[in-house]
Amino acid sequence: MECEMTAAEPGEDHYAQATAQSRILSEDLAGNPGKYRVLSGDRPTGLLHIGHLFGSLRNRLELQNAGVETLILIADYQVFTDREHSDSIHHFTLQLCLDYLAIGLDPERPTISIFLHSQIPELNQLIIPFLTLVSQRELERNPTTKDELAHASIDQMTGALLTYPVHQAADILFCRSNVIPVGKDQLPHIEIARNIARRFNQRYSPEQDFFPRPQALLSETPAIGGLDGSSKMSKSRKNAIPISATADETAQLIKHAKTDSQRLITYDPEGRPEVANLIQLIRCCSQEAPETIAERIGDGGASRLKAELTERLNEYLRPIRERRRALEQDIGYVYGVLHRGCERARTLAIETLRGVNQRMGTYLPPRGNR
Ligand code: TRP
Repeated sequence: MECEMTAAEPGEDHYAQATAQSRILSEDLAGNPGKYRVLSGDRPTGLLHIGHLFGSLRNRLELQNAGVETLILIADYQVFTDREHSDSIHHFTLQLCLDYLAIGLDPERPTISIFLHSQIPELNQLIIPFLTLVSQRELERNPTTKDELAHASIDQMTGALLTYPVHQAADILFCRSNVIPVGKDQLPHIEIARNIARRFNQRYSPEQDFFPRPQALLSETPAIGGLDGSSKMSKSRKNAIPISATADETAQLIKHAKTDSQRLITYDPEGRPEVANLIQLIRCCSQEAPETIAERIGDGGASRLKAELTERLNEYLRPIRERRRALEQDIGYVYGVLHRGCERARTLAIETLRGVNQRMGTYLPPRGNR
């Protein structure tokens, strides 16, 4: 058993391999949407921002439009893995759902469900059997968990944070999804979910695989940097432009974005990362090559660059923000979307848990049966 639970250390090789597999997957998805079920998720810790929009939400829209079934998890329980309390979870849960709907994810389609982690007991019950399929060592060396602890507001490793990848495996496997759109940082977690699926099949379902082996779908858009010059735009680091910000707030945030002292605008991601990031953001709205944008702005300097970004971004976000404002007036509809999503997720979770219990021998036949 011990050797079955050891897997190679993830490294650059692993990343290159994951990238190659993700490209193949991406091509097949468009042609064979019926073969796949996608699960993706966000934690309700703040407002979604344009880094999410350009990095992952637009990909979800593409999958939706290709007809791929997609479940979107609002990972509310998991907020508590790296902080002691949160007063605003319910608020941010609604905000997340508003953002999803505003960008065009459409739960009126039978292929789209948006649901809350906390509301699906059968999903969470999978965590107990799954915990038996990972070793302490495997959990302790997970680089993403360590990094989360380093950025967390708790000062020591808790049981919940250490086992976070196992909870995430339950999120992924409860609906037997096989495609997980994620960033590079999540690869170690996906690897654990894959191992759990494989070990469960080996141990309890050797004749025929019960769980599929989920694959990561990596975004091809390079990560959007923060307006403060840090490498990642982040909900919690106050360096982001929320999708729901007003046009004026957007202008203010861009005005205070960090740039450098050179007047002539050039596209040089290595040497001038802050300027390059603003150019990339214009590119996300206009699809022009970054070099062309830089040339056009030329000696207009940072002020011209910021003015253009403000204009393009506000233009791009205008219809999204209009839809969002209309939906804010109809919170009853938003709750209805979540109720329907939870019902769908729960149906799948009950079915999966039943299959797991049958295979493990942990079941009771219905009354009257002997
Ligand atoms: N861990 C993810 C993050 O921090 C959120 C998440 C929770 C998730 N469960 C998931 C992502 C399942 C994909 C699949 O961003």
